[in-house]
Order: sequence, then C-alpha cells, then structure tokens
Amino acid sequence: MKNSPQKHRIIQLLLLLITLVLFTIAPATRTDSVKVGATHITSGWDLTLPSLAETYKDYFMIGNVMSAHQTLDANLTAMYKHHYNLVTAENDMKPQYLSPAKGFYYFIMADMLINWAAANNIKVHGHTLVWHSQSATWLTTGVDGKPLTRAEARANLQEYITNVAGHFRGKVISWDVVNEAFSDGSGIPNHWKDALRKDSPWYLAYENGADKSKGESGADYIYDAFVFTRLTDPEATLFYNDYNETDAWKREAMAMMAEELNAKWRTDERNTQPDRLLIEVLGMQAHYWTDSLDVHAVEAAIARFIKSGVKVAVTELDIPYGSWTNQHSEPLTKEEALNQARLYAQLFMVYKKYAAHIDRVTFWGKADSQSWRAKGSPLLFDGNFAPKPAYYAVIDPEGFLRANR
Ligand code: XIL
Repeated sequence: MKNSPQKHRIIQLLLLLITLVLFTIAPATRTDSVKVGATHITSGWDLTLPSLAETYKDYFMIGNVMSAHQTLDANLTAMYKHHYNLVTAENDMKPQYLSPAKGFYYFIMADMLINWAAANNIKVHGHTLVWHSQSATWLTTGVDGKPLTRAEARANLQEYITNVAGHFRGKVISWDVVNEAFSDGSGIPNHWKDALRKDSPWYLAYENGADKSKGESGADYIYDAFVFTRLTDPEATLFYNDYNETDAWKREAMAMMAEELNAKWRTDERNTQPDRLLIEVLGMQAHYWTDSLDVHAVEAAIARFIKSGVKVAVTELDIPYGSWTNQHSEPLTKEEALNQARLYAQLFMVYKKYAAHIDRVTFWGKADSQSWRAKGSPLLFDGNFAPKPAYYAVIDPEGFLRANR
C-alpha cells in the first residue's frame, strides 16, 4: 500500500470528509471577520459592488480560479456568482491529481467543482491535459526514471485524454490542451520547434524512438494531444496556453506553432470539419509583474495571435508588485496600489479594444491572501476581501486613468 493509488484515494476521501465536517458543524470557525490587534474588523465580500462579469458582459467572459474545497463556502460562492461567469480549477484538473497511476482516475474533487459550477450557472474551462509540471509520471516516464518510448507515451497520451476529456465532455466549454511547451528565454526561432522545452518529459519520451528520417521529433506530442482532444470532445474549444507570451520570441513561436499545426490539420483525414481550426485559441497566461509589464507588448502579442487566425484568451491574470528577481513582500502602500491599478486599467483598455477577438479574461486568484503569489498583493481584492484601487481600475479603466494620472 506504500504510496499506492488506493492510499492516495483514501487520503483524498479523508480530506474531503474532514472538510465537510468542518463546514457543517463548525461554521463559526469559517470566520468572516478577523481580529487585528484589539480591534475587531469585519471582513467579507461586498456584494453591492458592481459585478465584474456584468460590467464586461458585452466584451468577454470574466473568470477566476476555484479549488474543490472552496465550493463548500457559501459566502465565497455568492461572491463568485456575483463577479464571475467562468471558472478554472486552480489545481484539481491537473494530471497529477486526476490520474496518479496508470489505470486509476480520481474525478471526485474535480467533479465537486464541476457540479458546483453547473448548480451556479458558471461555465468551466478545463486546465490542463498536457504539461511538464504537475503531471502524472506514468504518462511519460518508466519506473527506472527513464523516458518511455515514443509509442508507449503516445498510447498513454491517447488513453489519458480519452478518459479525461471523455469524462468532462459536455461539462467543460474549453480545454488547455497543452500548457507551457516552450522553454524559458530564446531568440526569435527559425522554427517554433527549436524553442520548445526539450527537457519536458513529454518531449523526451516522444523523442525516444522518433524516426528523424520521417521528420519525427519530440515535438509531435503537441499535435497528437490536440487531435486526441478534438476527437474525444468535438464541442470543446481547444487552447494552447503559455506565459511570458509578451516576449517577442515566445509570441512568435506560439503563433508559428498554431499556424503550422492548423495547416496540418486541414488535410488530416481524421478532420471532419475542414473549416474549423485545431488550435482555436492562444491563451495568454498574463502572469505579469508591476516592474516589467509593458502594455504595448501585450497589444503586440494580441495582434500577432489574431494575425495567425486564432482567438485570444487571457487565462491566468495577476500583477504582483515588484519583479521576478526582486519580489515584494510588504503590504502595498497607497502609491504602490495606485501604480498597480493603473496597469490593470491600461490592460483592460487594450482588452476592450480587441474584445471582438478575446473570448475571456480569467484572473488567477480571488483575493491577495489566496493567491499563489500572495506576497506581491497581485489581485483586485485585498486579504480582507476589500476592493483595491485595481478593482476600480478594472470596472472603469478610462475613468480611473482620468482621475489618477
Ligand atoms: C499554480 C497554482 O496556482 C498553485 O496553487 C500550484 O501550486 C502550482 O500551479 N501556470 C499555470 C497554473 O498554468 O496551473 C499554475 O497554477 C500557475 C502557472
């Protein structure tokens, strides 16, 4: 039973049970207020604020992330329905959690989220089928730690996608089919394949047995993943998703990849919808930093993606204060909060300008305290769930910038 899938499942069920008990018998511990020093301040979501989704209903969907256990929180749910019409599972739909071992699929947590979304009229974006991180080792790597062969990895990819995209068919509107396939830092490549993350376990396995004389390489997992997903769930819109998408080399690589694989699909005999693209959306993760965000580069990336014929989505937006190498860890000063808000305002002006091509803007976190980059206070609401200047900047970008030059 050591580290076995059964053990994993039992732990998952126990965690779920504990969460249910905590939320049922001890609602008082789920504090909506916090004690700061001697003062008792009320914190909670203010549902009289203008709704983000309502504000942008004529432009694009507005999404955020959730985890399965959070769906038990009624206050959070009320807030979520107020501001968002789309949800991404922050972690629960990653291969690591859905299928920790070959032949085992645990949909219990993801299904909690899916059922919650359906009950609250919130659409679901699937995240993510193929990624080098938070993946399941069995898909690509042998027990000896060595890459599987190309044929083995391809069979596993097909099995995984058929099971997972099949399970969620009709329940998700879209999928991040492949996430972060490109490497970190590179010049504009001659060919997009040159810029791929060559140490991805998917790349390594697909390279292991590739027939170079036929043009095969480690890169082929990407096309296979999109085709398997299309064949399993033809209703879902298919995304390629990546970060640093504003870097000239990466936006070029992403666009070239979409162009080439979409051209290849056009004449693929498995394609029954010749007018439909295979990679339909390029997802801009939009994990920015206040120090380095260049809104012109965002616009250039959107324009380049549109030129390649696809739609664009903002999939994981946040703007922590500081930079990757110089991370901020203090609460924001008034001036810093305003600087951050101006960037949000400028971004949303660009998003509105290209709204005909942008299908959604999803934030990666609901409040600063709940963010994966919490130290940088990256979001629209603070740790007490109060709206920050960034919230007002998103609600009315033009007005905000006029008033806060
Ligand atoms: C992050 C989650 O927010 C964290 O909770 C988790 O520990 C690691 O993954 N790009 C992605 C997301 O596509 O899945 C990542 O989410 C953030 C970067």
